[in-house]
Amino acid sequence: MSFQFPYPENALVLAPLSGYTDLAYRRAARSCGCRYAFTEMVDAASLAYARKRSESMLRRGEDESFLGVQLVGANLEHLKIALDVLNEYSFDILDFNLGCPVPKVAKKGAGAELGRHIDRALECFALFRERSRHRLSAKIRIVDAADPAPTLELAKGLARLGAEAITIHGRVKEAFYSGPVAFDQIRLVREALPGVQIIANGGVTGRVSYDEIRHETGCGAVMLARGAMGNPWLFRELAEGEGYSPPTIAQWSELVRNHIYGMIELYGEESAMRIARKILHDYVRGRGFRGEFRAQISFLCTKTEFDAFLAAAPQELVHHPDGDRALADGA
Ligand SMILES: Cc1cc2nc3c(=O)[nH]c(=O)nc-3n(C[C@H](O)[C@H](O)[C@H](O)COP(=O)(O)O)c2cc1C
Repeated sequence: MSFQFPYPENALVLAPLSGYTDLAYRRAARSCGCRYAFTEMVDAASLAYARKRSESMLRRGEDESFLGVQLVGANLEHLKIALDVLNEYSFDILDFNLGCPVPKVAKKGAGAELGRHIDRALECFALFRERSRHRLSAKIRIVDAADPAPTLELAKGLARLGAEAITIHGRVKEAFYSGPVAFDQIRLVREALPGVQIIANGGVTGRVSYDEIRHETGCGAVMLARGAMGNPWLFRELAEGEGYSPPTIAQWSELVRNHIYGMIELYGEESAMRIARKILHDYVRGRGFRGEFRAQISFLCTKTEFDAFLAAAPQELVHHPDGDRALADGA
């Protein structure tokens, strides 16, 4: 089955997350009902000049009926080559990253830094329109916390150049990932651009924050990022509402096992286990595991050690936390 784009009214979209949203990660989310997902962001220069390495990021599973790719860059030459490379692939959407605040990206004038230079950002996006065979979207941040005009100008320009959807992370570049989300600016852009789907993003970790962002922005579609890190069940929780019950320890263990085994298949045991440690720290957070158990993650180097770790998990649950990540009672 293939899925619709622009997204259906109540779509939940898994954000592109650099260093995270590889095939194994997406499959974990998909097993919890996630339909719309993205690759990690792909750097245009890397795709242009270190094609082989970054091409592994473009891997799409046969089971993935909807997959977007996200490109970051500010150099027209690099973008041109990268867009040509992407034309050899089939994605449901090509997203332009105008929101990444990390210094490595900003110092090249890309991501959120490019988003603040609207003419230049639109010049780059015009190249997307001209060169790409894919349908287009963009992911932006709020440009100015005090004044909605530049964010609106950016969004209008992107829409004029063919963006069918725009995700707005409701924070400015300097805020990185913390602080309040500017619901009012997201709402304003949505109201000003009825022909473009606006996807709200920022701070959704559970039912309360989900209801709030939808109510305050008027957006139906929402993008999930850190709230789903280590908690792919968030997709199920938000889709099922009142009827949702959290995973049991056995269901939690099975999903974590499949995720890490998937990484081993992608990267080989040694590399996979290195990356797996940060993934596992996310999975155990807030679930009521003993501190000493969680600390063991930093020392896991092999699949055998991981298996033993996971096998011990049921005995290491010491309390039932109240938060969004509590596991259900029972085996
Ligand atoms: C570790 C990490 C990696 C991220 N990588 C990307 C990325 O590759 N592309 C992108 O557009 N946003 C990226 N983001 C931003 C998220 O997609 C999202 O916009 C941001 O985390 C705000 O949403 P949240 O408050 O729900 O986490 C990243 C965020 C984090 C924490």
